[in-house]
Amino acid sequence: MVRRRTSIHGEWSSRWAFILAATGSAVGLGNIWKFPYITGENGGGAFVLVYLLCIAVIGIPIMMAEVMIGRRGRQSPVNTMYNLGIESGSSSHWKWLGWLGVVAGFLILSYYSVIAGWALDYVFKTATGTFSGANAEFVSSTFGGFISDPARLMFWHTLFMLMTMFVVAKGVSGGLEKAVRFLMPSLFVLLIIMVGYAFTTGEFMRGLAFLFEPNFDNLLYKHEAGGEFILNTHGEKIFTLEYVLIAMGHAFFTLSLGMGAIMIYGSYLPHNTSIAKTSFMIAGADTVVALLAGMAIFPIVFANQLDPGKGPGLIFETLPLAFGSMPFGTLFGTLFFVLLVFAAWSSSISLIEPAVAWLVENKNMKRLKAAIIMGASCWLVGILTVLSFNLWKNVHPVDFWVFKNKTFFDVLDYLTANIMLPLGGLAIAIFSVWIMSRSSTSDELDMKEESLAYNIWYFMTRYVTPLAVLFVFANLVELI
Ligand code: PHE
Repeated sequence: MVRRRTSIHGEWSSRWAFILAATGSAVGLGNIWKFPYITGENGGGAFVLVYLLCIAVIGIPIMMAEVMIGRRGRQSPVNTMYNLGIESGSSSHWKWLGWLGVVAGFLILSYYSVIAGWALDYVFKTATGTFSGANAEFVSSTFGGFISDPARLMFWHTLFMLMTMFVVAKGVSGGLEKAVRFLMPSLFVLLIIMVGYAFTTGEFMRGLAFLFEPNFDNLLYKHEAGGEFILNTHGEKIFTLEYVLIAMGHAFFTLSLGMGAIMIYGSYLPHNTSIAKTSFMIAGADTVVALLAGMAIFPIVFANQLDPGKGPGLIFETLPLAFGSMPFGTLFGTLFFVLLVFAAWSSSISLIEPAVAWLVENKNMKRLKAAIIMGASCWLVGILTVLSFNLWKNVHPVDFWVFKNKTFFDVLDYLTANIMLPLGGLAIAIFSVWIMSRSSTSDELDMKEESLAYNIWYFMTRYVTPLAVLFVFANLVELI
């Protein structure tokens, strides 16, 4: 058995510190901004059901695998995969899996920062009373005006990227770890208040039905975003697993899996911590936040006859309506967007951490310099997303296959969340059960090799996850 390593970047001060940081990474724009809008675009209930299933049977096993690999390797994902590849008697080429993650994290952060910038702008819009008493038209034209202004989007994108660089430069267990401790629970409370408001809109049950009543036609046949079925030349509906892929991709995205973020946080995890229990807690908290966001938003959508398939602007065009008419709406609204910014902030640092840790380990760089280099290049790529909502909204850079009619932002989002993360997750699953030995995985997971829990994990990771991902990918390839 191999001697257990320690990390040169430091370790979490406790198990709770890890839980908070990993929950901070998981809970973010994915839960509150992305989950509702893709659920709206893909017809609701059935999509949510598949997403929940993916969290349970793919997400949790992969999260355990990632934390386990991270703690075993104790380095940035690239070096961890390199070392464990050799240690397991396989190949150092596993480092490419680390690189896939570095690139995915980098690309995600490029657009994540732009959207977090929207939330920043909405802090000020809400605080200055822009939305008091506003109606749906006003809220939606405010949003439309906002995203068509590239200079404004650039300003907030720049600010958010600077915030991210600042925290990353300070290292893993700096101030944000402490901040997350009370911000996460506050976000939770505020979401409950929002659900309470949604209850008063008169369309609460319809919102719930939309979220939880599965209609599989909406999931399995091609349709316009949030609307009509697309028919083939014979007038028949067209079968596709593409929306299943989107639900699966989102399970990876929302749990920060498949790109090394959780792996690197795992590398700072002290021993004597149960990886299984922690993974369940993180996935549970993340899922609850997403469902609460959905329950807060869809009743407002229906009460105001809005289109659930509006796309990325959905929360910015619905929640302000609630803040505009509920008691203390300006206060709650401001607080809500502040907390959303923090949630995004604690996620963005984990997106760039694998790259920064690699620069520190391999190029002997100071964290500050590494953070500046990565942040600045990511900022530059982010400009593509800024322009996707205005000057280049009709530019479709890769106009074929699943990328047809997609803007730069859409392409980056699709490529990372629906292709790179599931691919990374697939490789992580394969590595942890087909390459690593049962004795080292059970040792690192602190489970007995013959225990039921270990064998469930083993079975899921060995068969269920890879087959599910491959099955959905196979359908995607036929779509060409
Ligand atoms: N999980 C984050 C969210 O839901 C996004 C993220 C993806 C963070 C991948 C790190 C890695 O907002």
